[in-house]
Amino acid sequence: MSEEELKKPEQIVHYPDPSFQESALIHDYNELYHEFEKDPDAFWRRIASDLLWFKQWDNIKVWNHPYAQWFTGADLNITYNCLERHVNNDRRNKVAIFWAGENGKERILTYYQLYKDVMRLGNALKSLGVEKGDRVCIYLPGIPELVVSMLACARIGAVHTVVFAGYGSKALNERITGAGAKIVITADASVRRGGSIPLKPVVEEALIHAPTVERVIILRTQEPKVSLLDEFELDYEDLISQADRYCEPAHVDSEDPLFILYTSGTTGPPKGIVHAAGGYMVGAYYTTKYVLTLRENDVYWCTADPGWITGHTYGIYGPLLVGGTIFLSEYTPDYPDPGIWWKLIEDYGITIFYTAPTAIRMFMRIGEEWPNKYDLSTLRLLGSVGEPLNPEAFEWFYKYIGKEKCPILDTWWQTETGMHMVTTMVGLPMKPGYAGKPIPGVVATVVDDDGDPVPTGATGFLAIKEPWPSMMKTVYQNDERYQQYWNFGKYGYYSTNDLAVMDEDGYIMLLGRSDDIIIVAGHNVGTAEIESALVSHSAVAEAAAIGKPDPLKGNIIKAFVILRNGIVPTPKLIHDLRYHVRIILGPISVPAELDFVDNLPKTRSGKIMRRVLRAKEMGMDPGDVSTLDD
Ligand code: WT7
Repeated sequence: MSEEELKKPEQIVHYPDPSFQESALIHDYNELYHEFEKDPDAFWRRIASDLLWFKQWDNIKVWNHPYAQWFTGADLNITYNCLERHVNNDRRNKVAIFWAGENGKERILTYYQLYKDVMRLGNALKSLGVEKGDRVCIYLPGIPELVVSMLACARIGAVHTVVFAGYGSKALNERITGAGAKIVITADASVRRGGSIPLKPVVEEALIHAPTVERVIILRTQEPKVSLLDEFELDYEDLISQADRYCEPAHVDSEDPLFILYTSGTTGPPKGIVHAAGGYMVGAYYTTKYVLTLRENDVYWCTADPGWITGHTYGIYGPLLVGGTIFLSEYTPDYPDPGIWWKLIEDYGITIFYTAPTAIRMFMRIGEEWPNKYDLSTLRLLGSVGEPLNPEAFEWFYKYIGKEKCPILDTWWQTETGMHMVTTMVGLPMKPGYAGKPIPGVVATVVDDDGDPVPTGATGFLAIKEPWPSMMKTVYQNDERYQQYWNFGKYGYYSTNDLAVMDEDGYIMLLGRSDDIIIVAGHNVGTAEIESALVSHSAVAEAAAIGKPDPLKGNIIKAFVILRNGIVPTPKLIHDLRYHVRIILGPISVPAELDFVDNLPKTRSGKIMRRVLRAKEMGMDPGDVSTLDD
């Protein structure tokens, strides 16, 4: 045995309890995978046939590498499937959304109430001239109006682009102008940890040089009410109360865009990932039903903000497509105390709890005394997404939250994939540290640079070989960037940019990004964005940002800054620069550490070699530095 093997901790395997099988919808993963492999189109036809289509498709898919069209020729409306499909049947009075606000505030919307609200706002948007294909930017905190706004856009065939309400004005401006939004829907403020954070000033600043925006709709939640600029700023409640009640669902083509969601890239501005109506609907529906196994009596909590893809697919669309009950909350995990989330689970009888490794690690650090104070016995399934769920965190989650009776789904996927891709489906043995296997419908593999499989246990790139329904359509107004995704190795696979290892059972372990993205507390932050924010400060000449492993957040951001000539490095300047990044990009992107340096390691072509900085920072060998220009 080599020394390394000796040091390797033994792989733990949790074998599924027979009761896990009961909660699974499928009883044999291999059988379902086989059904898919035998005839992929027939597999997706079966799934898609559960949903309502105004006009049937001609083909399930037309694959013209790198472009796939799904359910070609079909007409549909996702809101018809999220709303009428339930309202016209047994779920009319079922709770669609339980919303818990800070200080015990609560709102409950049945399917019928949600349906009515969506139609009103849909009509209001139409009255403002919003047409099929127009982009609407939504900058709202996680409140029911955010759900209503997204669905109202989809109702009339408009394309929503939700911007996480924690982003600063520059990030918001970039997304508004990038998408060419006609309307912005926002609120006066959001509530967080007992205080309120004004949103309107951020929007005002973001609208300087945003020529496509014609109107801003503002939800006013606070007293005294913020004043509105005549004609340009409209009150959300007024609009709704004046709008017509019935709003016909627009018939959209399966390939028409449903939404654009921005995600940080390695270089240049963030990428607007475009998802299309038909394929996205089928992918969200399928995985919510088969992977999350969301059922009639579940109360399901996805803790991700609706502003991220997880919130889109598994906070809103997926659960509404299957007619589930969503729990939504504005509570952060530690306010008023670190027991609040467990209290909410007890109070609402949450059965499925889907969260992120960063939250789990935070709870683990605080200790099990907090969850132990509450009755968590309603839970039947736990999920994790966003970054690798390390074995320690898995075990803690399994033992103290799931009480060794709830399966844990470690789900690997991306904004670009729209739906789950790799996980351990309920009923299969779980291996902490491994996300699991490609789900039926997904053909994933671990390959070398050429695209050929690497041996079992060796590090390679995770690649996807075949198209799937909810794959992104394109990168908004950047088709070239889209094409690069499907250009991996000699076979033109879809490149995930993630490093991975596959074991002898076909389980996949994710090892992190192979490009320059830093995942901080589950959120993707582009090094390029942070660097350009820093460089936009008058004292800075150049900057580099790296991710530094952190037990709690996965990574923290460390920045290296070269000051302009004559500028004196001071602790106050560090503070100012961090504040500057915060204003521009929002709190997630603020470097936790910032060093002033005289130079940065660069390639001859001038690219900053972040891996050299990272290696130095962690006291490791920087590897091949032959291209280093020094
Ligand atoms: C990247 C995608 C998909 C929703 C959240 C993030 C990392 C995601 C896992 C996981 C290891 C994971 C990958 C991926 N990631 N889930 N279960 N195990 N890594 O979406 O912002 O598009 O980020 O997050 O690196 O490529 P995103």
